[in-house]
Amino acid sequence: MAEGYPLVAADLPDLFKAAMRRLAASVSIVVARGDDGPVGMAATSITSLTADPPAVLVCVNRMTSLHASLVPTAPLSVNLLARHHKNVSMAFGGGMPRAERFQVGNWQPADNGLPALADAQANLECVIDAMLAYGTHSIVIARVIRARVSDTVEPLIYQDGGYL
Ligand SMILES: Cc1cc2nc3c(=O)[nH]c(=O)nc-3n(C[C@H](O)[C@H](O)[C@H](O)COP(=O)(O)O)c2cc1C
Repeated sequence: MAEGYPLVAADLPDLFKAAMRRLAASVSIVVARGDDGPVGMAATSITSLTADPPAVLVCVNRMTSLHASLVPTAPLSVNLLARHHKNVSMAFGGGMPRAERFQVGNWQPADNGLPALADAQANLECVIDAMLAYGTHSIVIARVIRARVSDTVEPLIYQDGGYL
């Protein structure tokens, strides 16, 4: 093993975090229906799962306010952020109180009744098909029932604790 690249070490948790900081990911805002209105959260854990049926997965910490709204058959929306949406990501990533987050960005009601970010890279309207608890998080499988895409491809990328 090359010097400087320990495979297993006592400080594995720190090494894991350092490794994940090197994992660049595009940022989305995940929105669900809460008891008192929509609930939204910034997430980098969106992954394309299958095209048939069209489905994504998202990993959500059970401590987040979004998590309480996640149950099978519930609607879920995924808004893929564009490069100019850094302020939206920061607001929904914990930078703003939950009730004020939807004041940042141009949110408009979509067919499923949840707010959709009008100038997002893409908007996916989904229904939750399955959930799997693992560690501190739930893996949520969401089937896409409606999609809208923008003309340009300019995703907002998060890496090493900052935005590209
Ligand atoms: C760029 C970015 C990506 C994030 N990705 C995730 C994620 O994939 N899953 C998750 O549970 N939290 C993620 N978070 C953290 C949540 O957005 C943050 O904890 C948020 O404040 C939770 O909402 P709450 O304050 O309403 O509980 C991310 C935060 C940022 C800034």
